[in-house]
Amino acid sequence: MTEIRRGTLQEQTFYEQVGGEETFRRLVHRFYEGVAGDPLLRPMYPEEDLGPAEERFTLFLIQYWGGPSTYSQNRGHPRLRMRHVPFKVDQAAHDAWLRHMRDAIDELGLSEEHEQTLWKYMTYAAASMINSPG
Ligand code: HEM
Repeated sequence: MTEIRRGTLQEQTFYEQVGGEETFRRLVHRFYEGVAGDPLLRPMYPEEDLGPAEERFTLFLIQYWGGPSTYSQNRGHPRLRMRHVPFKVDQAAHDAWLRHMRDAIDELGLSEEHEQTLWKYMTYAAASMINSPG
C-alpha cells in the first residue's frame, strides 16, 4: 500500500507551479510589447526606455505570487495605488491595460486553472487602480 506521510508533500507556490521566473518574464515582456504600440498607454510611461518599467512589474509579480522578494528589496512596500496617482488611470486606460494583459496571458499556454487565477487577479487589481472618472 502506498502511503503519503504527513509533512512529506511539498506545497508549491503559484510562482513555481506556472514555471517560475521565466514565465513571469515572458508574461510581462509580451505585455510591454502591447503597451509600446498603444497610443493611449505609451505616452503615460515616463521613461523613454520601457525596460526599467518592465523589470519593476516583473519583479512585483514574482514577489506577489510567491517567488523571491527582490521587488521590495529594491522598491520597498508596493503601495500600488499610491504609485499610480501620478498617472490618469480612467476606464479607457484600464481597458487598454487589461487588453494587453489578456493577450500576454493567452500566449503563456498555462492550464485553465492557472490562467483563470491569474486573470481574476489582474482584473481585480486593474479595477482597483482606477483613479480618474471617465
Ligand atoms: C489599470 C491600468 C494601469 C495603468 C494605466 C498603469 C500604468 C502604470 C504606469 C504609467 C506606471 C509607471 C511605469 C514605471 O515607471 O514603472 C506603472 C507602474 C507600475 N504598475 Fe501599473 N498601471 C495599471 C495597472 C496596474 C496593475 C493592475 C498592477 C498590478 C497588478 C500594476 C503594477 C505596477 C507596478 C508594480 C509598477 C511599478 C511600481 C514601482 O514604481 O515600483 N499596474 N503603472
